[in-house]
Order: sequence, then structure tokens, then C-alpha cells
Amino acid sequence: MNILVTGGAGYIGSHTCVELLNAGYDIVVVDNLDNSCLKAVETTKRIAGRDFKFYECDLLDRENLEKVFIENKIDAVIHFAGLKAVGESTQIPLRYYHNNITGTLVLMELMEKYDVNNIVFSSSATVYGMPKTVPITEDFPLSTTNPYGSTKLMLEQILTDAAKANNKLSVTLLRYFNPIGAHKSGEMGEDPKGIPNNLLPYVAQVAVGKLEKVHVFGDDYPTPDGTGVRDYIHVVDLAIGHLKAIEHRADKPGVHIYNLGTGNGYSVLQIIKAFEKACGKEIPYVIDPRRPGDIAECWANAAKAKEELDWTATRGIEEMCEDSWRWQSTHPNGYND
Ligand code: NAD
Ligand code: WQD
Repeated sequence: MNILVTGGAGYIGSHTCVELLNAGYDIVVVDNLDNSCLKAVETTKRIAGRDFKFYECDLLDRENLEKVFIENKIDAVIHFAGLKAVGESTQIPLRYYHNNITGTLVLMELMEKYDVNNIVFSSSATVYGMPKTVPITEDFPLSTTNPYGSTKLMLEQILTDAAKANNKLSVTLLRYFNPIGAHKSGEMGEDPKGIPNNLLPYVAQVAVGKLEKVHVFGDDYPTPDGTGVRDYIHVVDLAIGHLKAIEHRADKPGVHIYNLGTGNGYSVLQIIKAFEKACGKEIPYVIDPRRPGDIAECWANAAKAKEELDWTATRGIEEMCEDSWRWQSTHPNGYND
């Protein structure tokens, strides 16, 4: 099976490509390298010990994207490509809507033209907005609090409408919780540009001495220690979830929706402690005010993915922190090292 991976040079995409190649799939990767670099593609090839075609191409560039469909027989698409920074999306919303939505529309139109009828889409727990209770199941009400989240929710709707209109199309919407961790080799990991927005890369950069201290956004939430609780999931477990989606849903037209999380919640302070254990250093932190738009707690009920995809996250928080640290400590400047 030949799988087109959009955004395959990015954090989750590159880890998924390694697992796809290891499992014997053929892949073609498309990425405009807006938030990634060629080294990630080369590293994927090296870790997996296999070659594949890489197209440096923007999804908005219909003519060039069409070449990918002309030159390759594609059986399925895993669609990671998109802009993902919540804060930035409030500053430049039009760029987010154009890139994420128009990019996906161009991709879907080409899939239709070349009779490609299987897509796995990177959605997010952000589509649950401010959930009233936890754990979150797939049938919870959907809403968003920022333009980035709105692109995900709109794309879920667009893909659902496309599946309604085409009875051959299989759409799998994977709602990721909080991906962290890195490949066991220490050669592949998250490489954020500038100061990280997310907790784990921030903590890792404090541990390696690039940043001074962690700013904990609020300690007055109604949680056991007052700090925000999230469902952190190892990026390799998440990657494997995509293989399971291809394996179990590719031949089933319609819309399939799954939470990909561990079902466990960890607070910011628990994460700092777990990372201290992994790196053997103390991680300085200060308590700051809450970050606007943050919720107190968010974790998944992932029973549906277990039942229908035969998928469960198996890597615990210690392993997530150890693997993040192996990558961060050997690559303080990411792929530039
Ligand atoms: P990432 O930024 O590392 O990867 C996304 C890749 O898409 C990048 O390599 C970028 O260069 C590429 N890209 C962006 N726009 C493009 C375009 N128009 N044409 C071609 N390539 C383009 O992000 P990630 O963390 O690997 O996330 C992958 C997907 O998962 C995204 O859709 C993101 O919204 C979603 N997601 C991420 C998280 C998370 O916390 N990392 C959580 C939930 C969902
Ligand atoms: C985790 C916890 C913060 C940074 C975001 C997106 C979501 C999804 C995953 C894409 C929270 C606290 C954070 C810091 C802190 N992405 N924190 N200091 O906000 O759960 O989810 O990434 O779809 O859509 O919103 O992740 O890592 O930013 O925050 O105290 O410097 O850490 O308040 O409690 P979040 P995060």
C-alpha cells in the first residue's frame, strides 16, 4: 500500500513515517518545510533504513501537488500538514484558515480526481472546547475557543460532508490529546521554532539550559495541585494509532472518529517532577497567572480506539520524559545540531 503523508517532515508526521516504513508500507511525503526541515526527512530514511520520495510542496500549490498524484499511485492519505500554534492563530487567523482549510480542500479535490478514497486526518482534542467533565468521549459536544481549533472543527465538518457525498470515501478523524516524547534512537523529536508554546518542549529547554525557568500558568485550578491537567501521549504511540486506523478503517467507507490519548491526566507540576527524574536535574519554575483560554483538565476516554482499532497507548509518562530528554540533551538546537 502506498500512502501519501502530508506534513510528513513535522513532529508527528516524521514519527509516523518511521512506523509506516517499519511496518512495510510505501510512502510519499509532501511538506512545504514551513515548520520543519529536510534533516527530519533524511533522519526518517536513516532510522527506517528505507528510501521514499519527498516533495517540497505547499498544499496550496495545486499544480505541484497534482504532480504528486500523477507521478505516484496513491492508495491512502494521512494528512498532518497544517499550522498548529494556538496563540499565533489568534494573531493571524486568515493565514490559519487559508493554509489549513484551503490546503485541505485542494488535497481533497485531487484525491477525488485521482480516485483516492481513504484519508486519515489529524484532528485534536481542541474540538471539545471547554469540556464540562472528564474523561472525554467522542460524542461530547464540540466547540472551539481559537481560530486554530476552528480550522480543525471546520475540517471535520468538511471531511464529513465529503464522505456523505461519496459512498466510497473513508474518513478517519483522529483527535489527538497532548503528544510528547521522541523516537527511542534520540535522533528524532520535536523541534519547535523559537520559544516553545507547549509545556514539554519548554520544560526540556529549561532542563538543557536554553531557558531559565518554567512559567507555570496558574496554580488555582480545581485540580489536585491547582495546576492544569492533560493527557500526555507518547508520539510513537500516536504514530502507531495511524497505522491502526489505516489497517482497520481503510476499506470501510464513512466517517470514523477516535480519541487518541492514554486516559491518564498529569498536572503541570507532575510533569515537571517526572522530567526532573528523567534528566537528573532540578527544573526551576515560577507560578504565573493562568494563560487565557486554558482549561483546568482534559483527558481522554480512548475505549473506542481500543475496541475498533485494537489500539492502546502503552508508553507511560516516565518513558515519554526519558525519550524527550534523550533527544533534547543530544540535540539542544534540534535538527541544527
Ligand atoms: P508540525 O508543525 O511539526 O507538522 C506539520 C507539518 O506540516 C510541518 O512540517 C509543516 O511544514 C507542514 N505544513 C504546514 N502547512 C503546510 C502546507 N500548506 N503545505 C505543506 N506542508 C505544510 O506539527 P505536528 O505537531 O507534527 O502536528 C501535525 C498535525 O497534528 C497538525 O495538523 C496539528 O494541527 C495536529 N495536532 C497536533 C498536536 C500537537 O500538540 N502537536 C495536537 C493535536 C493535533
Ligand atoms: C499543557 C499544560 C498549560 C506551557 C495545546 C493546544 C491543543 C493541542 C495540544 C494542537 C496547560 C501548561 C504550558 C507553559 C504551562 N494542539 N503550561 N507553562 O494547551 O493542553 O494544548 O497543544 O491541536 O490544541 O491547545 O498544551 O502544552 O500548551 O499546555 O504551565 O509554558 O501546561 O497551562 O495546563 P494544551 P500545552
